[in-house]
Amino acid sequence: MTAQLIDGNALAKKIRAEVAERAAALTARGHTPGLAVVLVGDDPASQVYVSHKVKDCETSGVRSVLDRFPASMPEADLLKRIDELNRDDSIHGILVQMPVPKHIDPQKVIAAIDPLKDVDGFSILSAGALASGLPGFKSCTPYGCMKMIETTGVNLKGKHAVVIGRSNTVGKPMAQLLLQANATVTICHSGTVDLCQHTRQADVVVAAVGRRNTLTADMVKPGAVIIDVGMNRNDEGKLCGDVDFAGVSQVAGFITPVPGGVGPMTRAMLLVNTIEAAERKHP
Ligand code: GUN
Repeated sequence: MTAQLIDGNALAKKIRAEVAERAAALTARGHTPGLAVVLVGDDPASQVYVSHKVKDCETSGVRSVLDRFPASMPEADLLKRIDELNRDDSIHGILVQMPVPKHIDPQKVIAAIDPLKDVDGFSILSAGALASGLPGFKSCTPYGCMKMIETTGVNLKGKHAVVIGRSNTVGKPMAQLLLQANATVTICHSGTVDLCQHTRQADVVVAAVGRRNTLTADMVKPGAVIIDVGMNRNDEGKLCGDVDFAGVSQVAGFITPVPGGVGPMTRAMLLVNTIEAAERKHP
């Protein structure tokens, strides 16, 4: 069997076009949606991510404000800047690119962002709302993964979904979203004794570990939906995910590539959350 590719670039493009329509409608009513992106330090990967996010805004009619600060920025100054952005009526979403430098507590930073502008969905309030089935911002990567699963036409009700990884930003919210869609959900992690035993029974696997070849063909049920959140480098320095794509795509029913899978969808869902924040403010 050769799996069908879930094209994250194509789906993200479609979502950006929908965002652009909603942004234009808001702008026509005098409320151009605004996203503040804050980068502290000069981590090269973060610089690339941030420039992509700003570019996405430009193509979707969302105004972006990029704040770049040196790695030496005191924590108090960053919290003060977040407070200013919280009060700025032209800003509907605030994203502080992670990781922040070591002397800054990321939890304090996340907690400082107005929950109504938490378009990353990283705050305790957003996580709690998701766990309680209440409206809030969904973490962008799991939100994007759900949109990708939707395109397969597979109804998650009663299906067994296995999430590999338990991070607050991906694994845990992913499990919550799958649960909301009525899947039976297993979360596997570094303490899981027999990962294969779980993944072999899974109709859907979301791999979010950060280690290549975590999921190989022998671990996959024929026809399963495979979502690869990983962003790793192979021995040749090429970008690869957590899934052995060549092997697994021979067994799975659907699979996301890396690059061109989850990455562009995470960025697209950031725009969706920003538009939602603006629409909630200006109903
Ligand atoms: N660093 C890597 N991915 C992300 C993300 O989605 N949001 C933020 N704020 N930082 C990140």
